Amino acid sequence: MNTLETLDHHGLPAIRWQGPGGATAIATLQGAHLVSWIPADGEEKLFVSERSAFEPGKAIRGGIPLIFPQFADRGPLRQHGFARTASWTFAGASVAEEGHRATFRLESSAATRATWPKDFALELAATIGGNRLEVELRVLNRGEASFPFTAALHTYLRITDPARARLRGLRGIRFVERGATQVETEHRDAITPESPIDRVYFEAPPRTVLEDEGRVVTITQRGFTDTVVWNPGAEKSAAMADMAPDGWRRMFCIEAAAVEPPVVLRPGETWRGSQSLACDP
Ligand code: BG6
Repeated sequence: MNTLETLDHHGLPAIRWQGPGGATAIATLQGAHLVSWIPADGEEKLFVSERSAFEPGKAIRGGIPLIFPQFADRGPLRQHGFARTASWTFAGASVAEEGHRATFRLESSAATRATWPKDFALELAATIGGNRLEVELRVLNRGEASFPFTAALHTYLRITDPARARLRGLRGIRFVERGATQVETEHRDAITPESPIDRVYFEAPPRTVLEDEGRVVTITQRGFTDTVVWNPGAEKSAAMADMAPDGWRRMFCIEAAAVEPPVVLRPGETWRGSQSLACDP
């Protein structure tokens, strides 16, 4: 693949590459964080807040943050764990059946062991081609004991109108609202980001569909058992330092997640989870 370059993305080192059909993507080495994906139709599909920090150690608001080894505040670590702000290495580019792939790696170090005393290796492989993006997370347990983790690909999809955006495919699925303990069942065919939403849907179906002003993105997840749907709404958006007051109107997070129960990974084993996004041509 000769269409790969390193660049400075708002001050953070990053990799940009091209896939078949003219698709492009950019990922920062901090967090192996996808901050842009433009498929063959030429339109950016990921939302990144124009007020996001791009500073070492600070989470980027938007794109595809990789959450590991703790989802949200479900444990003793910092919110959403350390992988999204850690420095990853670029492990190479390759040509796959689905397109052009960039792979990033993060291994346990003295710094990660100080907060989470486990031996692990993570790989994040992002493949683009035509109208598709596939992101796969692999977690290897290099230690001598099993460890539990929770994880997510916290994808911020760009939308143009919260009144028209519709997420389909979660009807009949059990969920818990952030901060609640009671498990409820989704009764709607279509979920809209018009009112704030922050839910974990358990044992979610592998496929959901986001419609927005005639554009359709099919979201497929494998390995991840749950789907998190998040939009902070107007009030919370206005209170967030890294979001414009109207930021919520332009994003909808559909996250492939492994939250409940946590994954328990035995020594020497590798866990895989992926999310793919396909835009209708
Ligand atoms: C979502 C959570 O996954 O991430 C929300 O369900 C949280 O509760 C959101 O607010 C954003 O988290 P952060 O740490 O990036 O502000």
